[in-house]
Amino acid sequence: MASPSLLAFILPFLGWVLYVLYCLALNYKRARKIGLPVVILPIDCGNPLWMSIDTRILPFFKRLPFGFRNFTRFNYRGWEIKDRYRAHQALGDAFIFVTPGKIWLQVCNAETIADIFARKGDFTRPTEMLEMLNVFGPNLGTTEGQQWQRHRKITAACFNEHNNELVWSESILQAMGILRSWSSKPSTNSVADDTRTLSLHVMSSAGFGKSYEFRGAEEASTARDSSSYKESLKLILDNCIPLVLLGPNNLNKWWLPKSWKMLHQATVTFRNYMTSVYEEEKQAITHGKKGGNNLMTSLVRASQAVTESDAPATGKGGASLQQHQGGLTEQEIYGNIFVFNFAGHDTTANTLAFGIALIATRPDVQHWIAEEISAVFGDQNPETSSYVEKFPLLKRCLAVVYETVRLYTPVAIVKTTGPQPRPLKIGEDTYTLPSDTIIIPSYSALHTHPRHWGANSLEWEPSRWITSTPTSNTDTLASETFFEFPKAASPFVAWSGGARVCPGRKFSQVEFVGVLVGLFRQHRVRPVPLSGEDNAAARVRLRALIEEDTGMKLLLQLMHPEQVILACEKHL
Ligand code: HEM
Ligand SMILES: *[C@@H]1O[C@H](CO)[C@@H](O)[C@H](O)[C@H]1NC(C)=O
Repeated sequence: MASPSLLAFILPFLGWVLYVLYCLALNYKRARKIGLPVVILPIDCGNPLWMSIDTRILPFFKRLPFGFRNFTRFNYRGWEIKDRYRAHQALGDAFIFVTPGKIWLQVCNAETIADIFARKGDFTRPTEMLEMLNVFGPNLGTTEGQQWQRHRKITAACFNEHNNELVWSESILQAMGILRSWSSKPSTNSVADDTRTLSLHVMSSAGFGKSYEFRGAEEASTARDSSSYKESLKLILDNCIPLVLLGPNNLNKWWLPKSWKMLHQATVTFRNYMTSVYEEEKQAITHGKKGGNNLMTSLVRASQAVTESDAPATGKGGASLQQHQGGLTEQEIYGNIFVFNFAGHDTTANTLAFGIALIATRPDVQHWIAEEISAVFGDQNPETSSYVEKFPLLKRCLAVVYETVRLYTPVAIVKTTGPQPRPLKIGEDTYTLPSDTIIIPSYSALHTHPRHWGANSLEWEPSRWITSTPTSNTDTLASETFFEFPKAASPFVAWSGGARVCPGRKFSQVEFVGVLVGLFRQHRVRPVPLSGEDNAAARVRLRALIEEDTGMKLLLQLMHPEQVILACEKHL
């Protein structure tokens, strides 16, 4: 007979298993009614506990001889990167994951996805999944409906061409720093670290008006110092998970490990930093000084402008008044500044790391963009060039950006039907999605489906974005145009679309193009061959490495970027 203590353990466990099966059965019944192909998964794709261990546990199940095919193929974060369009090719434009938690609809149909983006009131963002982004205050990324509209209106004013000018010059300046570091030594394996530093520096300059000089990974201080804005933001971004689980104010308990106390210190430093910039800006406004064009400045000014134009002269700015009048409160300004950093830093840094590693495998592409850069700049120093004049001419460089985020899309888009069932047209048929269905535009399938991208859809081929209209003119560069899909059926959604399109889209494009200009005007990069390898073999090996090493942490990234070893040399 089982001992009572064993029973005390087994009974609740059995109860839990039964409960999970019961939830799964209920969801299965709801999902079957929709009428789309169904794949059963034992664990909810958004379960945070599972998300932190999935890739460590699944290999064990793969070795078992029977039965866990769908589980090991689909039930981990980032499955879609390896799968590309295969699942949709087999199951159609839409299919459903049924889990004990939620029902997840996967859609790979350009018209349907455009429709989802357009119906922003029907298909909202599941804000409960984004709680952590509220740590410094409500913001553009975490609000819905009227609140979101208020945030969007004000923040839209910040992402303007004046700000892009700052992004442009700082990106080129930082890229020159990278170049000095890389070309001064035989090889570098710090591409990912260096693009991360670069992206942080561009953000601090265009976000706060604070410039830092680029230093290579090995020159930078290794001390984990939480006392500067830069280090504190890095600590915060590296430690999102404890931050969400505990909240910033609970990290200071005496019994918590020292590293968490440092994280707490980092949140304090970051908040203090934002407060001081905010106060400075308000001072400048009262003294009638002209502001800079960085995001913080514009946010404070746009918020004040809205409030003042609506408010009676006597009603000076309390928080609720400000909110009521359509401006942002101080907390909301901090929330937005944080979300810009959060949404804009690693996305751009990882994309740059992928882009540089990929371009190292393609000397022909380096030559192709160098041709354009040289035609656009001639002898002129890009560091002092005009963004407005030069950026629109760099179509081939922009093609490298698009092609990189097509195959290595850093963020997935998540929508939900919310509290109500919603109709959705997919192809010729209309389906009714039950309330609380999660909707995932299958970006990885859409971005690689041969029906949109042809037979070489899985290859990294920037020239696919350029269409050339042959003219009698011999100037091929001038006759080239950048290819754009029609908005109503675009198979390219890396920056999302519709009302909630990424507001940092142009910011990140300008940054990436600026970096390409800085790096490839006079230099070339190549993978360093192993002994016995020639350059061509090294390129093939690097391309395979990128393919295999790509995985999902918080975002898509190279899991072992230090294995990318490049030489950077002046082109003669
Ligand atoms: C390669 C770079 C980038 C990519 C691929 C990218 C992609 C995206 C995508 C797909 C979304 C929508 C997410 C969803 O609906 O669930 C988004 C939203 C957002 N992005 Fe970006 N992003 C990039 C860079 C940036 C930068 C540089 C910034 C800011 C400086 C930024 C700020 C934001 C913000 C604030 C949102 C939320 C917008 C809203 O909810 O209205 N992003 N981004
Ligand atoms: C497993 O996935 C395939 C599609 O790849 C699907 O046809 C099948 O029904 C799934 N099996 C279960 C039990 O969900």
